Amino acid sequence: MGKDVIIACDFSSREQTLNFLSQFKGRKPFVKIGMELYYAEGPDMVREIKALGHPIFLDLKLHDIPNTVKKSMAVLSRLDVDMCNLHAAGTRAMMEAALEGLTRPDGTRPLLVAVTQLTSTSEERMHDELLITGSMPDVVMHYAENARNAGLDGVVCSPLEAEAVHQRCGENFITVTPGVRFADGDIGDQVRVMTPEQAKKIGSDYIVVGRPVTAAADPVAAYERCLREFVD
Ligand code: C5P
Repeated sequence: MGKDVIIACDFSSREQTLNFLSQFKGRKPFVKIGMELYYAEGPDMVREIKALGHPIFLDLKLHDIPNTVKKSMAVLSRLDVDMCNLHAAGTRAMMEAALEGLTRPDGTRPLLVAVTQLTSTSEERMHDELLITGSMPDVVMHYAENARNAGLDGVVCSPLEAEAVHQRCGENFITVTPGVRFADGDIGDQVRVMTPEQAKKIGSDYIVVGRPVTAAADPVAAYERCLREFVD
């Protein structure tokens, strides 16, 4: 599995995004486009970044009835993104429909990964509000297994869960892990964090890094540091 660093382009406008990416000159980092940028600028933003040569993780976390997700995934697949995602909570039927929708006429498709439980959901709220009674690690592993059984490529998870996910679902099942910080950097609002080096040791396949790169005085140097620590 090719390890890579994905930069979370959490910007709200085309201008900010293109200004940011222009600093990378000839390099074409893997970028994550989330809801904020997608809802602000639409599919043209995806096409434009793709045309610049960047691999794209489109992080829209779909969750709806299987037929709607299938048709929506077909639209996203035509945008030629490299990775996209959905909520495992939508059930196996939804995940299987998503894969069908994503698969292009020539048999190729973007990678599809599932969100298990959002890291913003505490175990207490999951029990009290969602009436899901298992422990958080059990629920995360169960959702990961559902995703694997539906044929998905992997999950988005905390780097702290990556090792267990690989043990349960196999080494080839991809773990995409946000919550990455440099050892000497600001944690911001993230709670459970890991350095790129630790994420590498624990077996993450892709790290998603936002502010440590986007808010750095020298984003290119920060990105290169991620690559050195995580990939090299
Ligand atoms: O700036 P920072 O490195 O915290 O950005 C992390 C990115 O990963 C953000 O786009 C955030 O929405 C996303 N993410 C996360 N935790 C999750 C899922 C996604 O931080 N559990």
